[in-house]
Parts: sequence; structure tokens; C-alpha cells
Amino acid sequence: STIGLYCRFKILTIITFKDLNMQIILLGAPGAGKGTQAQFISKHLNIPQISTGDMLRAAVANKTELGLKAKDLMEKGDLVPDGLILDLVQNRISEADCSNGFLFDGFPRTLEQANALKDREVKIDCVIEIMVDDDEIIERMSGRRVHPASGRTYHIKHNPPKQNNIDNETGEALIQRPDDNEETVKKRLSIYHEQTYPLFEFYKGLSSKKLPTNYVEINGIGGIDDIQLQIINNIEKLR
Ligand code: AP5
Ligand code: MG
Repeated sequence: STIGLYCRFKILTIITFKDLNMQIILLGAPGAGKGTQAQFISKHLNIPQISTGDMLRAAVANKTELGLKAKDLMEKGDLVPDGLILDLVQNRISEADCSNGFLFDGFPRTLEQANALKDREVKIDCVIEIMVDDDEIIERMSGRRVHPASGRTYHIKHNPPKQNNIDNETGEALIQRPDDNEETVKKRLSIYHEQTYPLFEFYKGLSSKKLPTNYVEINGIGGIDDIQLQIINNIEKLR
């Protein structure tokens, strides 16, 4: 009967959802839209977003030992040492909410970090690379506003909050990140080209060698909704 068919379909979808357990990496330059898109993917797959940048900013705000070590480096646009990042991530992915998968946003960003994941046999199902040119990024960063407690990201022109300078969900004030001035953005971009860009080859190589890592390239220029659709469509193909 139709009802029987519907029930079987329902049970099947529930099982597929449960079994999904996707572990995803979002790659891309600073300002490519990782944080913006991570929010959608995380909701869609019901997996936590693990943004090392957001975690570090929380550590800085709380003046923890890690925060004290990271503060100046972040403000200057330098990377935080691999050892500190790997401890942070290892602890985070062993938490209960990561048992059904997780989404890395801004990690790994050096070959050392990527190799550490591989050596620790952390399964990565999919690497999604968001491509945006440097010129566009500098424009984006100057208009970015963030809600520091959640990491929610807006843009004064491309993705404005409902009320000027106020977070849509909490009603709290938005801020500009201290590392979003033009000079620091340029430095972050050059570090990205030197240290993070090589990860594309690393993961492309992995996906061609029978390891089950899928590699997807997304054009990050265009409407936020269109890019979201492209990403979700690619993820759906892996189900
Ligand atoms: P992190 O916080 O990760 O910064 P990042 O990688 O530089 O990336 P951003 O958060 O700046 O950009 P995004 O890609 O998330 O873009 P967003 O969606 O906000 O790291 C900060 C620092 O922490 C590092 O510099 C380093 O010091 C340290 N750190 C973190 N992780 C580390 C690691 N693994 N190892 C070592 N050190 C580490 O979008 C940007 C803007 O564009 C927004 O305003 C948004 O609204 C807008 N926008 C988004 N999409 C579009 C679109 N399609 N069209 C127009 N505008 C758009
Ligand atoms: Mg971000």
C-alpha cells in the first residue's frame, strides 16, 4: 500500500541519515565563505561545525592559556603553531556530539596538520574547496561583521543582518574582527597561498588513490544561496 511504501521510505531515510556519519573539510582562502557555508552544511547534515578560528577567538576572549599564546599571532595574521591546534582539534572531535560526523572549517591549514589527521587515521569523506580570488576577498573582509559568541557572519552589503549591526538570533551587537583590516588580510592571504594552498594537491592526490576522500571544487563567487545549493547538491551525491 501507499502507506506501507511511505513507512519503508521513512525508515530507510532515517537509517541513511543515521549511517551518514560524514566527516568533511571545508577548504578556502580567508574570506572565501567557509564560515558562511559551514552554518548551512552543519544544519543540513546535523553535524557540528568545528571552526578552529572561532575556538581560538573564544580562548582569547576567555584568556585561557591557549588564548594568551594565540592572541598576538592571530592579530598579526600569523598561524598558531600546529601542536596547539592539533591538541585543540583532537579534544574537540572526541566529544560526544562528533560521533555522527563533523565539519572542519579552517582546519587543516598546513601540510603538518593534514598529515597528522592522516597519521591518526581520521576518516575524511569529503573535501570541499571554495575558490575566490584575492581581490574579491579584500572587498568582502572590509564589510564583514560577526557575532562573537556564535561566530555567525554577516556582510554589510552581501548578507546584512535584519537590524543594522545586530545579530539576527540573539539581538546582541556585532563586531569587526581585529584581523580584518586590509594589511592583515593581505598577510593572511599570502600565508594561505604559501602554507594552505598545497593542501589542494594533497587531497586531490588522496582522492585519486582509492582512499575514499571525495574532492569537490566550488566557485565561491556568486550568490550565497547559489553556492549553498551547489555544495548541498555535491554532498547529496555522496549519500
Ligand atoms: P579563521 O577564523 O579560520 O579565519 P580565516 O581562515 O582567515 O577565514 P575567515 O573566517 O576570515 O573567512 P571565511 O572563509 O570563514 O569567510 P566568511 O564566511 O566569514 O582563522 C583566524 C586566525 O586563527 C588565523 O589567521 C590563525 O591565526 C588562527 N587559526 C585558525 N585556524 C588555524 C589553524 N588550523 N592553524 C593555525 N592557525 C589557525 O565570509 C567572509 C565575508 O564575506 C563575510 O562578511 C560574508 O558575509 C561574506 N560572504 C560570504 N560568502 C559571500 C558571497 N558568496 N558573496 C559575497 N559575500 C560573501
Ligand atoms: Mg571563518
